[in-house]
Amino acid sequence: TDRYCVFGNPVAHSKSPMIHAAFAEQTGEDIDYTAIEAPLDDFANTWRAFAAQGGRGANVTVPFKEEAFRLCDELSPRARRAGAVNTLVLGDDGRTRGDTTDGVGLVRDLAHHGVRLGGARVLVLGAGGAVRGVLEPLLVAGPSSVLVANRTAAKAEALAADFRDLGEIRGGGFDAVEGPFDLVINGTSASLAGELPPLPDDLFAEDAFAYDMMYGAEPTVFLRWATESGAMAVDGLGMLVEQAAESFLLWRGKSPATGPVRETLRRSL
Ligand code: ATR
Repeated sequence: TDRYCVFGNPVAHSKSPMIHAAFAEQTGEDIDYTAIEAPLDDFANTWRAFAAQGGRGANVTVPFKEEAFRLCDELSPRARRAGAVNTLVLGDDGRTRGDTTDGVGLVRDLAHHGVRLGGARVLVLGAGGAVRGVLEPLLVAGPSSVLVANRTAAKAEALAADFRDLGEIRGGGFDAVEGPFDLVINGTSASLAGELPPLPDDLFAEDAFAYDMMYGAEPTVFLRWATESGAMAVDGLGMLVEQAAESFLLWRGKSPATGPVRETLRRSL
């Protein structure tokens, strides 16, 4: 049995063990996947100890994605650009390879919901690690423009500058936001505090989508507001399942079907 885990702190409520157990059963892969709470000041050694005890790979969640990035012997181009790693793979040579599957997860989930990214006017709220992690696949999907808006405008401007070679992207403060947009993605952590970024209410184009990278049993404030504004609201549960499927593919060379796992996960909330 090959061992895998998700590292986080806290990590007890992670859905990843459930998701990967379902993938393993579905594909007939003999793996064991657990949740491990790494100490805040010793992530690298926690990974090394896990690898020494037969660990073949791991997912990495809050707050260790940047630290995981720093400890890798090799990085995928998309992880290098994201500055973060959510998937560790131990090579047969003992080297640690890092990748990030969050952005692919978001883009696949958008496709699943019928969101067309090609030619779309996209607004991304937030300029932290979560947003940096998804911008590359988003831009590669060919939107007509991406505006990154953040409470701290300078952070959004700097972030946009880092991705300018990949497409039409700009950054600014919330006061610079002018719609309409076909897709608005909330990548701020404001939802956690039950807060809503200050946004104009004529933000959405006709048939627009609102996507929150968070999910929960109840819709976030952002999604409630978006629904009232006439947009189709989608939470981040599917993104979680899709990023997991891409990690599973990196480890096992098999792509699990995500549909049934989404449904099980939704029912478990
Ligand atoms: P993450 O890894 O989730 O991206 P982060 O890097 O700390 O975490 O980034 C959090 C993001 O949420 C930032 O864009 C932050 O805005 P600032 O850069 O101005 O700090 C944003 N954010 C957090 N709380 C917010 C709130 N109450 N309203 C609006 N934006 C908020």
